[in-house]
Amino acid sequence: MAKKIAAGNWKMNGTSASLSELETLTKSHSTCDCAIVICPPAPLLFRAANLTQDSAINIGAQDCHTDQSGAFTGDVAAHMIADTGASYVIVGHSERREAYAERNRDVRNKAEAARDAGLTAIVCLGESLEDREADNTLDIIGGQLAGSVPNGATADTVVIAYEPIWAIGTGKVPTLDQIIQVHDFIRGELCARFGTETGNQISLLYGGSVKASNAAEIFKAKNVDGALVGGASLQASDFSPIIDAL
Ligand code: G3H
Repeated sequence: MAKKIAAGNWKMNGTSASLSELETLTKSHSTCDCAIVICPPAPLLFRAANLTQDSAINIGAQDCHTDQSGAFTGDVAAHMIADTGASYVIVGHSERREAYAERNRDVRNKAEAARDAGLTAIVCLGESLEDREADNTLDIIGGQLAGSVPNGATADTVVIAYEPIWAIGTGKVPTLDQIIQVHDFIRGELCARFGTETGNQISLLYGGSVKASNAAEIFKAKNVDGALVGGASLQASDFSPIIDAL
């Protein structure tokens, strides 16, 4: 049985003042049957991890480098993220695949670096509208999954987030049948590659315009173990009902 996860990706939003949202969440969700993960911008990681120590909230970064150190101006290594007290890192988000030309093998190398640093990698997959309309969704997702997820992945090292690019920040959400089709496919691929036990334990999150009003419906879908939420994770008042719907 896969762990239920409500993850919030703040993207490039928030300053130290936003930590009050985190404080509110730690108070409203002091215990939770699911895992709650908040991924703030890198400059907030250390303070966010300190603030949520001994709470039900876990902290994650939004990206990591593949290497441990070196001349990579502006980048952050996975072990540096772990050193802040964070325990998760998003890799292969479509915004990074697009803006930084990240390929599947880069994403896989990042997920391996995360694992080696003791972090859980939230590996993002998703098709473009063009792929969807050309009926290529499962081919694209299958290729991304095979290329981006490291060998030997386990539920402790990898979480998968299915985020159709056309649903991110647009208010457009796939039908429940479309979500179920892709999540069932991903589950099948994971079971085939890692064995049924491990394949069934890896959490599968849906992401793309999740909000309080549609979360409960999406969470009813088979093989949806939670959500990766962007816009609706910035305010505790928007994110709390999504956690509660899990
Ligand atoms: O990482 C989160 C996703 O990109 C979803 O963003 O909830 O604002 O559509 P959104």
